[in-house]
Amino acid sequence: MLSDKQNLIMIVEDNPVNAKVLFEFLQASGFRVLVAKNGESALEKLQLVSPDLILLDIMMPGIDGFETCRRLKEEKSTRDIPVIFMTALSDVVDKVKGLTLGAVDYITKPFQPEDVLARVNVHLKLCHLNQKLEQRAAELTATVAQLKHSQQRLVESEKMSSLGQLVAGIAHEINNPAGFIEGNLTYAQKYMQDLIDHIHLYKNQASTPEIAQHAKKIDLDFLLEDFPHILTSMQQGVERISDISVSLRTFARADSTVKIPFNIHDGIDSTILILKHRLKACETRPAIEVIRNYGNLPEVKCFAGQLNQVFMNLLANAIDALEESNEGRSYQEIEKNPNYIKVKTNVTEDKNFISIKIKDNGLGIPDEIKSKIFEHLFTTKAVGKGTGLGLSITHQIIVENHGGSIEVNSLQGHGSEFVITLPI
Ligand SMILES: Nc1ncnc2c1ncn2[C@@H]1O[C@H](COP(=O)(O)OP(=O)(O)OP(=O)(O)O)[C@@H](O)[C@H]1O
Ligand SMILES: [Mg+2]
Repeated sequence: MLSDKQNLIMIVEDNPVNAKVLFEFLQASGFRVLVAKNGESALEKLQLVSPDLILLDIMMPGIDGFETCRRLKEEKSTRDIPVIFMTALSDVVDKVKGLTLGAVDYITKPFQPEDVLARVNVHLKLCHLNQKLEQRAAELTATVAQLKHSQQRLVESEKMSSLGQLVAGIAHEINNPAGFIEGNLTYAQKYMQDLIDHIHLYKNQASTPEIAQHAKKIDLDFLLEDFPHILTSMQQGVERISDISVSLRTFARADSTVKIPFNIHDGIDSTILILKHRLKACETRPAIEVIRNYGNLPEVKCFAGQLNQVFMNLLANAIDALEESNEGRSYQEIEKNPNYIKVKTNVTEDKNFISIKIKDNGLGIPDEIKSKIFEHLFTTKAVGKGTGLGLSITHQIIVENHGGSIEVNSLQGHGSEFVITLPI
């Protein structure tokens, strides 16, 4: 190894004769050499230089070699410099003590030059290899982290784009027949009115006993009165379908490349609508009530599709937590202490942020897992029910992609509250 020859070796030795012998020999072998004549002086010099290896005498005035070594190993900047103790041949106890203090080897006095050189070379080589290994390990760790990150991004965009595509597709499919019904309803209402007027003419001017009997049979008066109501409610129904279609399209706006001004409440509302099937009453429990307390928010420049995904993750988690809390409770018990999700929005006092709070009265989050819930792939749900991606993606969207923050407040048994802040 070429660079080994430029290695700097520090000799810590109080005996000037020994120090001189070692100094001359190592220098002649091509090393740069530095001598300190006791432990204190060595520690002082080490604040300025960083040798590749230290040859350390044990018996010295002042702090001895063991204490010097202990202090070296305590200090971050000197911890990794290999230390070779120099000890008298017979001192087995010293050798063992030195090694337990972190020394890599020992050489015995009186010195055998070949022995010293061989050990110095071996440990320099080992040290370099170790450094290389550590560097590789650090590179590997960084690569793994990067890979994880990219994988998460991929999953995020994949999850969102397939959901977005699906929702956009459904919205489109609904839109066509809804438009068709809506258009025809206008004519149907007009035709109906004409027919009703026409029937009234018959009734008044051309009624035969047969017609009168039929009118009675079909309860013509009620029919003529009820028919317009029916058409009106059909009209309302089709308007609802159009609203749903608009909501679905709002939800599906996964503009991933540029931020656009977005009405956060539209995003939350459309997400709630998409989750409606999970909120409504079923055999085992009454409906989960969603209580909205919306402040006066400005539009926020954001990746709308991503924020909708955040609302989806948080609301779906809240529903999961409520369902879990219902296990073992009867319909009546749940009715007495009903499930709810509260969504509260407001502008913060300093007017620089908006805050969105989503709170449920489910089981809450135990303290011991609170710090883990935002981790990639952390889940407490059964296989197939949860992947553990929801909150880590949510965190990434809020913190990295929007410069906001997300926190959780939860007391076990008393539900959870997720608080998002986004810069305006
Ligand atoms: N509102 C909540 N109440 C209680 N625990 C929650 C709540 N939200 C999240 N958690 C806990 O945090 C964990 C991680 O949530 P996260 O959304 O990341 O994954 P998941 O819901 O398990 O799976 P998915 O990838 O399908 O979202 C959950 O498994 C659950 O233990
Ligand atoms: Mg989840």
